Amino acid sequence: MVSSRYAHIWDCCCDHGYLGAALLDRNLGSTIHFVDIVPTLMTEVETKLQRHYPLQSALWKTHCLDVAKLPIGDFNGQQLVIIAGVGGDLMIEFIEALHKKQQEHKNLKLDFLLCPVHHQFSLRQKLIELGFSLNDEVLVEDNKRFYEILHVSLASDIQHDISPVGDSIWQGESAEQEKVAQRYLHKTLSHYQRIQKGNNKAQHIIDAYNQINLK
Ligand SMILES: C[S@@+](CC[C@H](N)C(=O)[O-])C[C@H]1O[C@@H](n2cnc3c(N)ncnc32)[C@H](O)[C@@H]1O
Repeated sequence: MVSSRYAHIWDCCCDHGYLGAALLDRNLGSTIHFVDIVPTLMTEVETKLQRHYPLQSALWKTHCLDVAKLPIGDFNGQQLVIIAGVGGDLMIEFIEALHKKQQEHKNLKLDFLLCPVHHQFSLRQKLIELGFSLNDEVLVEDNKRFYEILHVSLASDIQHDISPVGDSIWQGESAEQEKVAQRYLHKTLSHYQRIQKGNNKAQHIIDAYNQINLK
């Protein structure tokens, strides 16, 4: 999903900067932009990068700012915006703002790599509404937590529709992946059934997840 075709990679909500540092270690040749809204975090990240990556200083930049205000219009070449570890609702706000900016700069080549915490269904619906297409999606289980990772773009050569509940994430390629998918489906359905009991607004989501055919 992350390859050297990207001239610029934005590690948004970077916290301690581990993801961006791992990308620097892969020597992709891309410029890695570390972005977080908390000034003290960005000062720490800047200090660590100066210490550990002094020779690659042309390949990293730090930005203390709101992801909704990323200066994507100031850069040329293909860009990848990575947003992980924040709620799907906040992610939707970021994507709406960046999508608007992308509409203003028609030549912008922008992909997103998204790993939301919760609200995957509403995030996927928003991506569909905005006209995104799917490059790839994977499901990962780590420490009893599940993560959907979506690689999406507006102008993609490979035009796959995004499913509101996911598609290939349910088709495990190994027996272990099939079990991960089963556990995730069970957990997701239980979550929305609890919500349905509280506010009676989740039946359409439950119906959509109930239609999934596991391998
Ligand atoms: C839980 S950490 C995620 C860390 C990492 N991305 C991960 O996946 O583990 C969430 C980070 O998002 C940052 N954040 C929250 N709102 C933000 C915004 N509007 N713009 C930039 N960063 C933001 C917080 O300061 C925090 O460091």
